[in-house]
Amino acid sequence: MTPTYTGVVAMDAERAIGLRGGIPWHLSEDMRLFKRLTMGHPLLMGRKTFESLGRPLPGRQNIVLTRDADYIAPGAQVIHDVEELEDMELMAQEVMVIGGAQIYSLLLPRLTRLHVSLVLGSHEADTFFPEFAHLFASRVVAEQYEQFTHIIYTR
Ligand SMILES: NC(=O)c1ccc[n+]([C@@H]2O[C@H](COP(=O)([O-])OP(=O)(O)OC[C@H]3O[C@@H](n4cnc5c(N)ncnc54)[C@H](OP(=O)(O)O)[C@@H]3O)[C@@H](O)[C@H]2O)c1
Repeated sequence: MTPTYTGVVAMDAERAIGLRGGIPWHLSEDMRLFKRLTMGHPLLMGRKTFESLGRPLPGRQNIVLTRDADYIAPGAQVIHDVEELEDMELMAQEVMVIGGAQIYSLLLPRLTRLHVSLVLGSHEADTFFPEFAHLFASRVVAEQYEQFTHIIYTR
């Protein structure tokens, strides 16, 4: 099964996504949206994001990318090259790319869809999503929440 890649990210208008290994805000509604979008799918994430989550996410196939040949991630599968995904047994064809910045940058050319939670306000941050808008032909506002807007970009 050849995978397809969908990005899921929460960012602000400056494309801020992270601060000191965590996320610059706490939005429970966005966490619910994230769960709804990702449940039942393989998740591709970087080693740092996996460690910031602190545990594998239930109901999803957790796949962690690292260059560390000895890395062990309990409850997750470890890969060392994204090409390995092409030969893996996947619980669904649509792989959700959930960050962080290094993994978004690496997979950006392959994303056929991108779910953005555009968070209101400006935030202190040290990690940013790459420039992306020029790569997508369509931008649809899916839902307006109090503190963020769910926007779906497609190629
Ligand atoms: N707002 C959001 O939606 C969101 C989502 C996810 C994460 N975040 C935030 O983003 C930050 C983390 O992002 P980050 O960019 O620092 O880290 P990251 O992308 O989560 O992980 C980076 C790690 O992935 C591995 N890696 C990267 N490229 C690789 C490649 N080509 N081949 C093999 N392994 C590779 C390396 O692991 P090794 O060092 O082990 O080799 C690298 O250190 C945190 O603050 C997190 O909270 C925000």
